[in-house]
Amino acid sequence: MAIDCGAEVARAADILRRGGLVAFATETVYGLGADALNPTAVARVFAVKRRPEFDPLIVHVADAAWVPRLTRAVIPSARKLMDAFWPGPLSIVLPKADCVPDLVTAGLPDVAIRIPDHPLARALLLATDRPLAAPSANLFGRVSPTSAAHVAEQFQTGIDYILDGGSCTVGVESTVVRFLSDPDRTGSWKCELLRPGGVTIEQLQQVIGAVSIAEDSGHPVLQAQSAPGRLPRHYAPRTPVKIVSGPTPAGEGGRVGFLSRGPVADSAGFAAIEVLSQTGDLSECAVGFFAALRRLDSADLDLILAESFPEQGLGRALNDRLRRAANTAVV
Ligand code: TXA
Ligand code: MG
Repeated sequence: MAIDCGAEVARAADILRRGGLVAFATETVYGLGADALNPTAVARVFAVKRRPEFDPLIVHVADAAWVPRLTRAVIPSARKLMDAFWPGPLSIVLPKADCVPDLVTAGLPDVAIRIPDHPLARALLLATDRPLAAPSANLFGRVSPTSAAHVAEQFQTGIDYILDGGSCTVGVESTVVRFLSDPDRTGSWKCELLRPGGVTIEQLQQVIGAVSIAEDSGHPVLQAQSAPGRLPRHYAPRTPVKIVSGPTPAGEGGRVGFLSRGPVADSAGFAAIEVLSQTGDLSECAVGFFAALRRLDSADLDLILAESFPEQGLGRALNDRLRRAANTAVV
């Protein structure tokens, strides 16, 4: 995308430097940004999103030179991941430096950092010349925004500016990984996947070898404190969601919608159908996933049936979002 938004970026950067809130495009989803080193601004993000303060924010930076300023230790395998995937949809959790406010990390000793791969986001980060704490720009627990219009729908007030960078090209949030010291081998570190996202576990393993998948603790608050994106109910529309392995409306009463990975042979029985990809391609499914979920959510349905994805590549991130959208447990 050719971008000539100098004046808009300058205005947005000025707002951020004064402690304001700016929603901006990234390649994954839109973020709701504030100066990460200004606790008052960060507090506004929590308030506007109605986000509980136990849920830490990802810090976005323009380049990796920020990492030693924001962290206490850059682990060699983390460095390899930065070299391989930044800019891009990977957030790396590292021990935080004192300058990072506790509010950003929800009191945790670690901070999540990423360089987004979107020209407008990077222009904004450069112009602001500060790290930006930015959760997805949606109300807490709701469907993530992949366009400026999605952000505007949820936030009529509270945000000072929306930097419109078009539709997001990845469509699911960044992968979040954490490094833990390995109790079996002094001085070495283990990499743990906290949230599947735009960089697949297979891609991570190609670069650093073993990556373990963090277990859900089963306890919502403990869970939230270590990796809030893993709350049982998250990314959720208002309409109930049920995961199925194919288009099987039989037995479901009322107005039923279907979120399909690929073309649907028999559409009878559905009040609305969203086909994510004509070829079932997982990257294409990810790009349109949240927008399709939103359209179904506004189609006055009693139930959304959603087809599960193969548990590989981006399918893992998509299944993760689906499971949390479908979970009726109260957070
Ligand atoms: O793609 C993305 O990551 C988007 C864009 C805007 O960059 N941001 C995003 O932020 O998805 P959010 O707040 O919706 O999700 C951030 C997740 C948290 O729920 C948590 O799982 C993890 O990142 N996280 C952040 N800081 C952490 C920390 N210090 N330790 C462990 N997990 C952390
Ligand atoms: Mg989010």
